[in-house]
Amino acid sequence: MNSGYQIAVLPGDGIGPEVVNEAIKVLELLKKLDSSLNIEFETFDWSSEYYLEHGHIMPPNGLEKLKEYDAILFGAIGDHRVSDEVTIWQLIMPIRKQLQQYINFRPVKLLKGVSSPLKNGHDIDFVIIRENAEGEYSNSGGRLYHGAEEEIAVQNTIITRLGTAKCANYAFEYAEKHGKRKVTSATKSNAIIHSMKLWDEVVDEVSGNYSSISLESYYIDALAAYFVSKPAEFDVVVASNLFGDILSDLGSAVVGGLGLSPSANINPEGDFPSMFEPVHGSAPDIAGKGIANPIAQIWSAALMLEYLGREDLGALIVESIEQVLLSREVRTPDLGGTSTTSEMGTAICDAIHQKLLREKVDKL
Ligand code: NAI
Ligand code: MG
Repeated sequence: MNSGYQIAVLPGDGIGPEVVNEAIKVLELLKKLDSSLNIEFETFDWSSEYYLEHGHIMPPNGLEKLKEYDAILFGAIGDHRVSDEVTIWQLIMPIRKQLQQYINFRPVKLLKGVSSPLKNGHDIDFVIIRENAEGEYSNSGGRLYHGAEEEIAVQNTIITRLGTAKCANYAFEYAEKHGKRKVTSATKSNAIIHSMKLWDEVVDEVSGNYSSISLESYYIDALAAYFVSKPAEFDVVVASNLFGDILSDLGSAVVGGLGLSPSANINPEGDFPSMFEPVHGSAPDIAGKGIANPIAQIWSAALMLEYLGREDLGALIVESIEQVLLSREVRTPDLGGTSTTSEMGTAICDAIHQKLLREKVDKL
């Protein structure tokens, strides 16, 4: 029994609100069926629409407000009427950076009932642990001589000993806790000779503290190819911000697409709330049609429950998603079906309901 979790919900733009609705439907059901789950939601309408109305995408005290919550459930953000500089750099990045969510955690798991586009795509089950607060995604740099032939752009990558060590530690700790044998580091220190060399050295040093887990290191280009040629061989992949971002979309594609891929932005110390969101964006091409796959969002909510200490309920959600996928009756168009977002959410709710009822009967 806990004293209750307060969740800030940010549905965002496009399909964000559509898929967040389904995740809330699942969480509300769990709350109803399991009296020990004490969870409350508060929704914030910070979105591109909000920006167009107010001139800012979140209020000036937005980050302070978010700090009052135990976790954040985020949909997606992005709208052609508003520059990505606003949606990314005034909302997502400040949340990730100021709330020190320096780990981005992305499972790459082939769910039962889903086929990989790869011929050798069986038994794919690994996680990508991406450094989420520094690296290539920094606003350090600038441009000179706009529009002139001599124009220069400088974009600095920030790799720090501390940031890399914290990320590598998280990866090895995760491997140890989950009985994994190996951590794979993504690098490019043959060409990026300063920052990536520091990354390699620090990851190597950290690996020395974990004698039961081996470290392998691949250049990012080769590693991208291995994601396709031998995806079942990975356990835990640790990567810088940009490399991890690219690898996780690739990882997502080999296990059935963006509609199925969840993520967590984690502040491991628990000093600030962590944020749970699908890997996908606001998908303007399908927004408003009610056909987005809500599984990535629902699975993100499952990661949130696990993070809050309810591994049992997280596992129940994932098993229920797999049951629905295995039955093949309800499938959204990205999975080759004709079901709606809401039908998929309802099918997952039904599967959860049945599983919990069966557990109760088994206990009698
Ligand atoms: P996207 O992930 O929104 O869409 C890529 C493709 O995947 C589209 O064809 C879309 O229809 C499909 N797709 C995505 N999610 C799906 C789902 N749940 N079910 C079925 N199909 C799905 O990426 P895109 O098009 O590059 O970006 C669109 C907007 O989203 C941009 O403004 C971008 O900046 C933003 N974005 C925001 C992110 C976030 O909020 N964390 C992450 C990625 C992009
Ligand atoms: Mg991405």
